[in-house]
Amino acid sequence: MADPKREELKVQAKRTVLVGVLTPRERAQQEAALDEMTGLVETAGAQVVGTLVQVRDKPDPATYIGKGKVEELTQLIEQVDAELIAFDVNLSPAQGKAIEEATGTVVVDRSEVILDIFATHARTYEARLQVELAQLLYMRPRLTRMWTHLERIEGGIGSGRGPGEKQLETDRRLVDRRIAELKRKIQEVETRRERQVADRRDFPTVSLVGYTNAGKSTLMHALTEADVYIADQLFATLDTRTRKWTLPNWGDVLLSDTVGFIRNLPHHLVASFRSTLAEARHADLLLHVVDASHPQVARQIQTVNDVLKDIGVDSTDPLLVFNKADAVTDRATIDILRARHPEGVVISAARREGLDKLANAVADRLGDGYLDAEIETGVGNGRLFSWLAEHAEVKDRTYVDSRVRLNCRIPRKLAAAIDAHDATVTLLNGHE
Ligand code: GTP
Repeated sequence: MADPKREELKVQAKRTVLVGVLTPRERAQQEAALDEMTGLVETAGAQVVGTLVQVRDKPDPATYIGKGKVEELTQLIEQVDAELIAFDVNLSPAQGKAIEEATGTVVVDRSEVILDIFATHARTYEARLQVELAQLLYMRPRLTRMWTHLERIEGGIGSGRGPGEKQLETDRRLVDRRIAELKRKIQEVETRRERQVADRRDFPTVSLVGYTNAGKSTLMHALTEADVYIADQLFATLDTRTRKWTLPNWGDVLLSDTVGFIRNLPHHLVASFRSTLAEARHADLLLHVVDASHPQVARQIQTVNDVLKDIGVDSTDPLLVFNKADAVTDRATIDILRARHPEGVVISAARREGLDKLANAVADRLGDGYLDAEIETGVGNGRLFSWLAEHAEVKDRTYVDSRVRLNCRIPRKLAAAIDAHDATVTLLNGHE
């Protein structure tokens, strides 16, 4: 049962002061950077009641922001009656502790806010395990100031302080035990998932990746009419989901949505989301969905590319999809994006514009990886049928006496293997 006093504390804790730290080079982007952090903090359930920005080249080793700024921060907290400080950078455990001591207020950093959001949005068993592991790995070196870690996992952002230092040792042991258990469970799920994904060769797979809020779920919905969760919220989608998408004049593909990416994604989180992103790693094609109306579009594209590299998918060549074209006010933006990425497709998922163009571009790309073939063989050729069931998409079959003619789409890399199965193969799309 909810404890009314704790609830009250949580609500108060949501009054948050945001602290942005920018290098002189980033100064011009100050507004966009803070807008994003405000979005994150609000998505985590807090309310921004004050903002403090410092421009500096290198962080102060002790408190990240300078001594004078810490004093300014303390005054601001008092003025606006805040209960939480959210830093738009990642702090070392010692820095977080020092700022808490100096200001007498709970501090969270960028990683922690993102972890909080992920914790609220994780819906499947796998995503929950991954988020919990990432949280514990983040907290372990910070336990001295986080006695109430378990409460925080459940309670979300800045949900109060715990019983005291004496708990520390017990906590550390508990945390270590739980970390080991989570790793084992994740390993199990991962093995199962890798096997499933690798086995699913009957349809080509296409994965949507992109910066959070780029419109992946909206696009997935527009393309597949599926009931995909859509919200103007960061990270509405935490779990991969897969639906069938029929490309006109081409055939079916499996389309997967993946977790949204973000700048400075905590590295524990990237690591623990590897298995969710197995979909992306095994995809035949990645669609990198971009919010073309976002002021920091170039930076968001770069971030997504960096995260993809981190999870080991740099070898794939994603097709860029410039979404939200309807919301772009300056035509030059689209022209610049087009000039930089001539292969990119401009669409509006919300207005369902440009989707045919997108389907054609996807078919073009996949066309390279797949061949259409007509295969003729005896009706008793069970070995070939089971090979086809595993590796190919059989579109139709015609029986003539004891022979059967099959129209198939097969991965190009496997085409050469069919001849061994006592059959006549005619390739239809003339690539070979
Ligand atoms: P995450 O779950 O955070 O990764 O987000 P996502 O990339 O799945 O984004 P989602 O589809 O949830 O869309 C985010 C917001 O952008 C929603 O408010 C959508 O309505 C809006 N949106 C999506 N596509 C378009 C578009 O073509 N035009 C405009 N104007 N808004 C769009």
